[in-house]
Amino acid sequence: MALQGKIAIITGAGCGIGHATAIKFANSGIKVVVNDIIDDSAVKTVNEIKSNGGEAVYIQADISKWEEARKLVDETIKIYGTVDILVNNAGITRDKLLRDMGEDDWDAVLNINLKGAFNCCKFVTPVMAKKKYGKIVSLSSRAYLGNPGQANYSSSKAGILGLTRSLALEFGRYHLNINAVAPGMIDTDGLKTHPKYKMVIDRAVKGTPLGRLGTPEDIANAICFLVSENANYITGEVLHVTGGRY
Ligand SMILES: NC(=O)c1ccc[n+]([C@@H]2O[C@H](COP(=O)([O-])OP(=O)(O)OC[C@H]3O[C@@H](n4cnc5c(N)ncnc54)[C@H](O)[C@@H]3O)[C@@H](O)[C@H]2O)c1
Repeated sequence: MALQGKIAIITGAGCGIGHATAIKFANSGIKVVVNDIIDDSAVKTVNEIKSNGGEAVYIQADISKWEEARKLVDETIKIYGTVDILVNNAGITRDKLLRDMGEDDWDAVLNINLKGAFNCCKFVTPVMAKKKYGKIVSLSSRAYLGNPGQANYSSSKAGILGLTRSLALEFGRYHLNINAVAPGMIDTDGLKTHPKYKMVIDRAVKGTPLGRLGTPEDIANAICFLVSENANYITGEVLHVTGGRY
């Protein structure tokens, strides 16, 4: 299989969509660098992959920090010799109406969701460009269209689309495929702890033509397609995985 033996960094791979993607990648023969800032869940992801016969390592790094993102890529190269795939998955929310949103709420979300993706792209692209092979997928969100209470998050996810298209234009001549995935509402453990879980999911399901929430595996499937050779002529795109909800 074409993905066999490729080296992938997945940021924020300790849980949710990143975890599902790590498992799916490993099942396709990809060697996975599980990045996160929380050791416990990341180590669990690595152990799960290894117990299924896959290959993975955990590298702790806060990708919002320039030097830590550099260290993540440097350590990956030290361990595996190169990097073929980057999934910019790490992300947070700090939902508040604008009247209550402070500078710290804006900075925290933009620094992790957008600057973190920029930092990781910055350090993997020279390696990928040199060998004229590389796949980058960044997690946007249906929220890029705008949501009340998500000025920071929506802006970060719209920014991901600008970053994706700009880098696709810059790196097309090096044969890099740089795309984004925009999930709808995904039933992760994090969502289950939402204080208004029932109300939130009822509303989302009602507005979703396919009549259900997405699963982390639904998003992992889309990411796996975009890093595969089936997507070799796709770059600068955003793939909506929303069950038809806009
Ligand atoms: N869950 C959804 O409904 C949904 C919908 C649309 C888009 N997304 C996007 O998909 C991505 C994954 O979402 P999820 O729901 O699986 O998230 P999650 O909260 O379950 O997991 C995110 C992971 O990122 C890690 N992380 C946070 N800050 C980090 C940092 N600075 N450096 C490294 N790791 C860090 C966390 O520790 C966590 O393990 C995010 O970018 C999110 O915005 C999610």
